[in-house]
Amino acid sequence: MSRITVVGGGTMGNGIAQVFATSGDEVVLIDVSPECLDRAVARIGKSLDRIVKKERMTAEEAETVKKRIRPTTELEEAAGSTLVIEAVPERLDLKRDLLKRLDGVVGPETILASNTSSISITALGAATGRPDKVIGMHFMNPVPVMKLVEVIRGQDTSKETTAAVIAAAEALGKVAIPAQDYPGFVSNRVLMPMINEAIQCLMEGVADREGIDGIMKLGMNHPMGPLTLADFIGLDVCLHILEVLYEGFGDPKYRPCALLKRMVAAGHLGRKTGRGFYEYD
Ligand code: 3HC
Repeated sequence: MSRITVVGGGTMGNGIAQVFATSGDEVVLIDVSPECLDRAVARIGKSLDRIVKKERMTAEEAETVKKRIRPTTELEEAAGSTLVIEAVPERLDLKRDLLKRLDGVVGPETILASNTSSISITALGAATGRPDKVIGMHFMNPVPVMKLVEVIRGQDTSKETTAAVIAAAEALGKVAIPAQDYPGFVSNRVLMPMINEAIQCLMEGVADREGIDGIMKLGMNHPMGPLTLADFIGLDVCLHILEVLYEGFGDPKYRPCALLKRMVAAGHLGRKTGRGFYEYD
């Protein structure tokens, strides 16, 4: 058992806090306001309820897991953690600023990990005085269910840091797979062009939304069709990652589809806004 800190209580942050607490670690969960923290704790409670219903955990165990999570708005509470994982919104300035502040709060041995889906780990590491201890720990949504943690080594990330983070992911029962620090790493560099192409097919009328999703689900054995998955991830997130790929490689094959841009401009961001390629309650 060790102490870890998660900064950011959104979908990914609360999932990460939950899996560490489930595996027995004490977790400090930091966000900017008590309201954000209340929402995060409520979502963790719901996810644990689901696991209890499936009889994979008892109600008492779920209570113990919840008690291991200490929500706070104070960044200084990260002091004393062996590992800090940030899962704040995908903005380079925000993440760099946060890592710089964390660098001054935690001990010299602490590893600073980012759950970024596409921002350069090298650029994040350079914002701190410990680029050898800055690394990408890219969890997949939904965190309690998905097996993968993509581990991204920045230019100066040390072998020791990589080994420690792989061990931490494996202790959660996850499979850690390393990747180098290039735009989109492996996961989103491969996934997002597929989603973009599915949206292009929809725009061109190659098939309707159910047709495109049905073909990919039944024909390729994907658990969700690409349009359903885009709604699940968030269309703004998909657009942002495609922009990072397009800009990072300067290759037109990553150019975001005009329909994706239009959906985002309209505020139809997928599940989280109740409307994307599909409608949600
Ligand atoms: N917490 C706990 N358990 C959960 C959960 C959650 N948040 N969400 C789902 N589950 C569990 C369910 O209880 C269920 O358990 P069971 O196997 O014991 O019955 C199991 O997961 C499957 O859930 P459901 O039966 O409700 O629904 P599905 O069978 O449709 O599965 C899904 C849902 C797991 C989300 C599946 O559709 C899936 O794998 N979809 C693809 C997800 C994916 O590709 N994620 C990666 C996105 S990309 C990313 O994250 C990177 C980022 O950078 C963009």
